[in-house]
Amino acid sequence: MTKIAPSILASDFSKLGEEIQDVEKAGADYIHVDVMDGHFVPNITIGPLIVDAIRPMTSLPLDVHLMIENPDQYIEAFAKAGSDIITVHQEACPHLHRTLQLIKSHGVKAGVVINPATPAEMIKPILDEVDLVLLMTVNPGFGGQSFISSVVPKIRQVAQWREEMGLSFEIEVDGGVKAETAARCVDAGADVLVAGSAIFKQEDRKEAMDLIRRSL
Ligand code: DX5
Ligand code: ZN
Repeated sequence: MTKIAPSILASDFSKLGEEIQDVEKAGADYIHVDVMDGHFVPNITIGPLIVDAIRPMTSLPLDVHLMIENPDQYIEAFAKAGSDIITVHQEACPHLHRTLQLIKSHGVKAGVVINPATPAEMIKPILDEVDLVLLMTVNPGFGGQSFISSVVPKIRQVAQWREEMGLSFEIEVDGGVKAETAARCVDAGADVLVAGSAIFKQEDRKEAMDLIRRSL
């Protein structure tokens, strides 16, 4: 079954714990945490302190998406704070293989992510090292942007390689995912849908998630 990972970027940060519990109760599968440093992307959000603070609020896996330069420097802190999955951008990792090993050395699942303009070929050599591939369907930095449809063939390509190589990593998509766009991602091979605005900006989070699930 397709998993849903609400992105807390679109939540009300003044009551973050309650917001997370609300989506957990409503049937979320992961909690997606968007970490931005103001360098790799033009926005600043969450650090390890917040991950540590929300850890006891939920039993769901924390899916931590690092949109930062020099991720190696912060992986230990995010692992110790209680991340279950740490995802790094290929564009920010000159020694990507080493960075993935570093994540796994902390007992955390390792994910790799590419921007819409990055070809899937850039991550082909390390696919056997990852637990998750995240394909950005917007340019990272902000919630509420429009889905970039040209990424859909890339989802299909990565799913095909997974099959051919006999691998079992999950394929996740992030950005502009809602009832109108989710089915195209899932049909192409996505297993996990990140959704910020389509869930947290809605009054009834259960209804919002049901709407996405019914669209598939
Ligand atoms: C974008 C973030 C996304 C964002 C998605 O840089 O990585 O996770 O929160 O937000 P929506 O679903 O509103 O596009
Ligand atoms: Zn994200």
